[in-house]
Amino acid sequence: MGSIAWDPALETGDALVDEQHRNIHAVVADLEAAGDDVDAIMGVLERLMAHVDTHFATEEDLMRREGFPGDQAEDHIAEHRKLTDGARDIVLGFRSGEITRGAPIVAFLCEWLTDHVHQKDRVLVDWVRARGGAARRLDESAPEAPKACSAG
Ligand SMILES: [Fe+2]
Ligand SMILES: [Fe+2]
Repeated sequence: MGSIAWDPALETGDALVDEQHRNIHAVVADLEAAGDDVDAIMGVLERLMAHVDTHFATEEDLMRREGFPGDQAEDHIAEHRKLTDGARDIVLGFRSGEITRGAPIVAFLCEWLTDHVHQKDRVLVDWVRARGGAARRLDESAPEAPKACSAG
């Protein structure tokens, strides 16, 4: 139990990126706690994908805003897509009964996240921080446009 401890070595130095990484890590720990209970696993995977989508969008927004060099950005985004596609295959695998055990999925996700943070996210954050930039929270529930014509 609790083998998915957060490793401080994964901190990149960007407050929001690190917060999102910690949240993803916590969901992977929930996945581990779900054991081989397929219904529980599916519920956690859904939450995981929502966190991952928001996180990848945050990093990709950061790349665009800061003008992160194109070839590096492409490589980085390609890894994001690979994980998103992989996660979708995992969900389908559980649905079809082809995958029945949670542990290999947890191991796969931990390894992917650790490698990706060290090899890709750190490079991005170092580059951005050298320019004084930082990730910003994407507004998922954009405030309503002001009602310019409303009375009063
Ligand atoms: Fe990333
Ligand atoms: Fe990341």
